[in-house]
Amino acid sequence: MGDQPTQSDGRARHVAIIMDGNGRWAKKRSLPRAIGHQRGVEAVRRLVRGLEPMGLDCLTLYAFSSENWKRSESEIDDLMNLMRKFIKSDLPDFVANDVQLKIIGDWRSLAPDIVGMLENALEQTANGSKKLAVALNYGGQNEIARAAAKAAEHGDITSDSIAANLDTHDLPPLDLLIRTSGEVRLSNFLLWQAAYAEMLFVDTLWPDFKPEHLEQALSDFAQRERRYGGR
Ligand code: IPE
Ligand code: IPE
Ligand code: MG
Repeated sequence: MGDQPTQSDGRARHVAIIMDGNGRWAKKRSLPRAIGHQRGVEAVRRLVRGLEPMGLDCLTLYAFSSENWKRSESEIDDLMNLMRKFIKSDLPDFVANDVQLKIIGDWRSLAPDIVGMLENALEQTANGSKKLAVALNYGGQNEIARAAAKAAEHGDITSDSIAANLDTHDLPPLDLLIRTSGEVRLSNFLLWQAAYAEMLFVDTLWPDFKPEHLEQALSDFAQRERRYGGR
């Protein structure tokens, strides 16, 4: 994935979202964190179903970071079980809606049954025209280190050769990175790809995020002037 603009019509082709705030959403309602995560999955489903008119080529979602293993075993179990359920329930929807699933991150070290389900989902959606990339066991520093190591195998460590070996190598350049829940940090997400991405930090907690929020973000984006260091 290159860092340079590929089009100048102001339309975002690739948006990535750090889906944050499930825990606080639940806490505000005195509910268990697991319910917040459940409602977070519903927000994902709603968004994917509402994507069609937005004209994106790719949406990338941060679902589980390489640092999220620091959470309690029971929260991690809840998240993994939600993932299993989601793949099972929504795969037919992806296929029907022309979605091509992509997974970024070190996902092959997840539980073997999840790896199997993901492999099947990748295979079944391979012909879709709109990409939905899900970051699982993802860490940006690890992704760059893996890409650099691969580039080094060919004795050629350059920006281009590293970019060509990133997990995102077959996704369009990142246009807009959104984080929900009011936190203003990247938390190890798409560090390389964010070099010239526009950023948007919104206070909405992820379970409250609606397709209209993304539509609003896209129209904000269309008003921005991207310069890439030039004038
Ligand atoms: C985001 O919500 C979901 C994941 C990181 C998996 P959080 O669980 O981080 O919610 P907060 O930040 O505690 O509110
Ligand atoms: C980032 O959120 C990871 C995901 C949304 C999957 P976190 O809630 O884990 O990030 P920190 O810990 O607040 O930086
Ligand atoms: Mg969080």
